[in-house]
Amino acid sequence: MNAPILVTGGTGTLGRLVVPLLRDAGHPVRVLSRRGGRPADGVEHVTADLLTGAGVDPAVRGVDTVLHLAGGPKGDDVATRHLVDAARRADVRHLVFISVVGADRVPLAWLRSKRDAERAVAGSGVPWTTLRAAQFHDLTLTMVEKMAKLPVVPVPGGLRLQPVDAREVAARMVELALGAPAGLVPELAGPRVYGLDELVTGYLTAVGRRRLRLPVRLPGRAGRAYRNGDNLTRPGASLGVRTWEAFLAERLRQPAVEARGGAA
Ligand SMILES: NC(=O)c1ccc[n+]([C@@H]2O[C@H](COP(=O)([O-])OP(=O)(O)OC[C@H]3O[C@@H](n4cnc5c(N)ncnc54)[C@H](OP(=O)(O)O)[C@@H]3O)[C@@H](O)[C@H]2O)c1
Repeated sequence: MNAPILVTGGTGTLGRLVVPLLRDAGHPVRVLSRRGGRPADGVEHVTADLLTGAGVDPAVRGVDTVLHLAGGPKGDDVATRHLVDAARRADVRHLVFISVVGADRVPLAWLRSKRDAERAVAGSGVPWTTLRAAQFHDLTLTMVEKMAKLPVVPVPGGLRLQPVDAREVAARMVELALGAPAGLVPELAGPRVYGLDELVTGYLTAVGRRRLRLPVRLPGRAGRAYRNGDNLTRPGASLGVRTWEAFLAERLRQPAVEARGGAA
């Protein structure tokens, strides 16, 4: 039996899509998360906390390839350093990391921590591949659902997004993990750039609701970066094919429990 592939965050939105693709490709999978999960054919779960480092060394032992998908609102730099240190000690041969488009350009704390995590991966001494992806459709939906609950929806002017389908990101991550270490590869985003107002309008129309919109201006350097499109891909990026409209139609057709079955 070949060595298991370790998937950190394999219980999350992206991880749950990646694990079955690795299984389909014939690989045993070890999933790392804090809460664990139910084992399945060829899939074992280990619990570890990347933020403290507890349990990370045994999780990495005996593994050649690591897909690092675990992430949270804070501390991805610290978590990633714990992982890369353990990966180096375990002689891991390929560390594949998911980052975010704009990590190197948008001055927001969580993106800075993603940038520092990228640097930890690149400087780890472990052969690596990093893909920067745009915001997933799932997260975009969570965001517009929250906005649409307000009686008046604040819409920051000039804010644009290029949401991508998490299934396409999962497929690309698996392709990268099964290939040779490639360093920083072309970014992956969705097929179209949308103004945030368009995304909100599309959602409200799809669910048959009306809301007043209040244009607002994002303050500070981060606001300037967003208006400048620093969160969008640069030339040379790969683009997915599944649109926001298609995703939305698909999600809204599903019963609520299924649609919410663990989205981010
Ligand atoms: N969502 C997006 O739009 C988007 C876009 C581009 C890139 N990304 C990146 O893609 C990755 C996956 O995103 P996602 O939306 O799938 O995230 P998610 O649904 O929030 O899942 C996060 C996963 O990480 C695990 N995790 C979180 N903190 C951990 C810790 N301290 N130690 C061990 N495991 C931990 C979680 O399990 P437990 O809670 O049980 O630990 C879960 O399995 C993240 O790194 C994110 O930054 C996301």
